[in-house]
Amino acid sequence: MGSTQNNSEARIILGIESSCDETAVAIVTGDRTIVAQRIASQEAEHAPYGGVVPEIAARAHAQRLAPMIEAVLADAGMAVGDVDAIAATAGPGLIGGVMVGLVSGKALAMAADKPLIAVNHLEGHALSPRLADRELGFPYLLLLVSGGHCQILSVEGVGQYRRLATTIDDALGEAFDKTAKILGLGYPGGPAVEQLTRQGDPKAVPLPRPLKGSKEPHFSFAGLKSAVMRAYESGEHAPADIAASFQQAAIDCLIDRLSKALRENPPFPALVVAGGVAANQSVRGALESLADTHTMRFTAPPLALCTDNAAMIAWAGCERLAMEPDFAGDPLDIKARPRWPLDPEAEAVRGAGVKA
Ligand code: KG4
Ligand code: ZN
Repeated sequence: MGSTQNNSEARIILGIESSCDETAVAIVTGDRTIVAQRIASQEAEHAPYGGVVPEIAARAHAQRLAPMIEAVLADAGMAVGDVDAIAATAGPGLIGGVMVGLVSGKALAMAADKPLIAVNHLEGHALSPRLADRELGFPYLLLLVSGGHCQILSVEGVGQYRRLATTIDDALGEAFDKTAKILGLGYPGGPAVEQLTRQGDPKAVPLPRPLKGSKEPHFSFAGLKSAVMRAYESGEHAPADIAASFQQAAIDCLIDRLSKALRENPPFPALVVAGGVAANQSVRGALESLADTHTMRFTAPPLALCTDNAAMIAWAGCERLAMEPDFAGDPLDIKARPRWPLDPEAEAVRGAGVKA
């Protein structure tokens, strides 16, 4: 590999992700090539507990990360000296796991004398659609829906995010996971709920649409989750009908809140969705129709880039270097942050999600 120091397009970044229950490493170039990537899910370790256990997650990351970095470099036919920078998730997320990934990134950066780029996991999600879609320029209206967040953001540039709405209680992915637990579908819940909706009637169970039509811009899913519990306990409904009605109620809330954001802000050329819940086909379909109605471009990353992965972290590093070609790297004493809002100016909203 020749030196690429002055060509931001051709930068090669090694990315590390460890903020929740996926250990992931990827090598991505500034011209949008995912050279190599590996992801190890911890599903089997957490399944007996019905959710992610932070201590188990941190230990699993610590065990898997170093051999995975070695394997991804081997897959790419590279040595660490061939990459231009190391990008590691520095938050937000489960702090033990974030520390494992960030410290590994620091050690690699130090040993290979490369810049360290401390990446906000949410920025990874927010920019991931641009890795998949080279035509997607700024600004765009982003729905970021994951296990820990449900936000509407105006993405105005790299590092420039304006939060227009967030959840006042649960994230949507969390509501999918709780619904799965109530229906006995196990963990992780989102994909299992989506699968079950295919046999259900979305109109069968009357469920609330929290904050639909509200003057405030935010989301709320706690009441929907409790209503799912009551519907299940009543014994009157088939699980598939509950799943389908839940998903429909959630989608109605997303569309209502996004429509409000579109009405109340200057026009955006594109509507974009990212985060784990963006893997849901019905959510994608509903957003695509909304974008059509507003004659906006619609972008959703491929499924593998929606849920947690390291390619999006490496790509956020590429974006950073493309914007600031002489960036010397973040300081090696930079801290892991359990909370790290994308828009530091956004006012705190009661009960907003804490996970990534
Ligand atoms: O982005 P992500 O992988 O991790 C976080 O940063 O939180 O998102 C995980 C969340 C989980 O709550 C999971 O249930 C949800 O995304 N999810 C889905 C689907 N696939 C993953 N929710 C609904 N439908 C899906 N197909
Ligand atoms: Zn995530």
